[in-house]
Amino acid sequence: MSVRSMEQKDKKVLCIGLVCLDIISVVDKYPEEDTDNRCVSQRWQRGGNASNSCTVLSLLGTSCAFMGSLCAGPVASFILEDFQKLNIDMSLVSEHAQCVTPTSLVISSSSTGSRTILHINRNVPDVTAEDFSKVDLSHFKWIHWEGRNVDEQLKMIQQVARHNAALPLQQQITISVEIEKPREPLYELFAYGDVVFVSKDVARHLGFQTPQTALEGLRCRVKVGAVVICAWAEKGADALAPDGLLVHSDAFPPERLVDTLGAGDTFNAAVIHKLSNGARLEEALTFGCRVAGGKCGFHGYGGIADMVTGQE
Ligand code: ADP
Ligand code: FRU
Repeated sequence: MSVRSMEQKDKKVLCIGLVCLDIISVVDKYPEEDTDNRCVSQRWQRGGNASNSCTVLSLLGTSCAFMGSLCAGPVASFILEDFQKLNIDMSLVSEHAQCVTPTSLVISSSSTGSRTILHINRNVPDVTAEDFSKVDLSHFKWIHWEGRNVDEQLKMIQQVARHNAALPLQQQITISVEIEKPREPLYELFAYGDVVFVSKDVARHLGFQTPQTALEGLRCRVKVGAVVICAWAEKGADALAPDGLLVHSDAFPPERLVDTLGAGDTFNAAVIHKLSNGARLEEALTFGCRVAGGKCGFHGYGGIADMVTGQE
């Protein structure tokens, strides 16, 4: 089948952003400063918001691609193998031989499920608009940007807008953006997403104490007809629908909170999975909370496929 005749349902979701190494130490109890402790376990895991969202999309059965930068060496090989294992298209990954892989040391407390992250990114360049101009957009039905190098990301989004302008509505690419870190420049992205994921951290930073007040307050920053989604940990998630109405889903807490690392990335992926397959916003929001809540009940992401089998 030629790409030209590719149907929307056969196209992929592309996630653009960070891939890093997560070195995770699981502890029974969060340690006190300047003490010597034993962990329950330690593991390496591929991390980074866009990379984690690809993992979950793939586990849910949505074919996806990751676009971001990778360094050279054994850590990069670990990351590449893991992408491969999950069937995630890496053809848009660019290698930067002189760089050091961004790394997070994560303390994951299994008594509370909390995750404490110490992250370093020394010199890895983000994807640029020039890199993006080489992408064949006809392969994708949805492109998701983890908010990072906003100036370049806005240029990429404009490229997609130009691509969309030449197509009938049902063949256009949906643009989603994630505004997770409370950094002023990222807020420019509000105006450009068809779907905008805003974190509770950002909402709080902007002075909102609940997801509902955040959505009301952020309404003026997004384009007409956009969806805004705000996840709020154990309170679930809320969304502003294209018609301006607010939608809510309660959280689905697991029996025991074990690991909240990547809960937000899981939520975003599960929502994108549903919306990109034509589901209604209410259904997507509830599914996002169900998958993300379930994920908090086990370590890593491996249990997601089992969790949703037969439930969709
Ligand atoms: P992150 O801090 O990773 O960005 P959030 O705290 O925004 O993630 O949570 C994302 C989603 O994960 C929530 O909407 C919720 O559905 C689920 N979630 C996170 N923490 C919990 C929790 N303690 N109990 C139940 N669900 C949770
Ligand atoms: C989780 C995560 C981790 C990574 C960190 C980077 O959301 O993507 O995998 O170490 O955040 O900020």
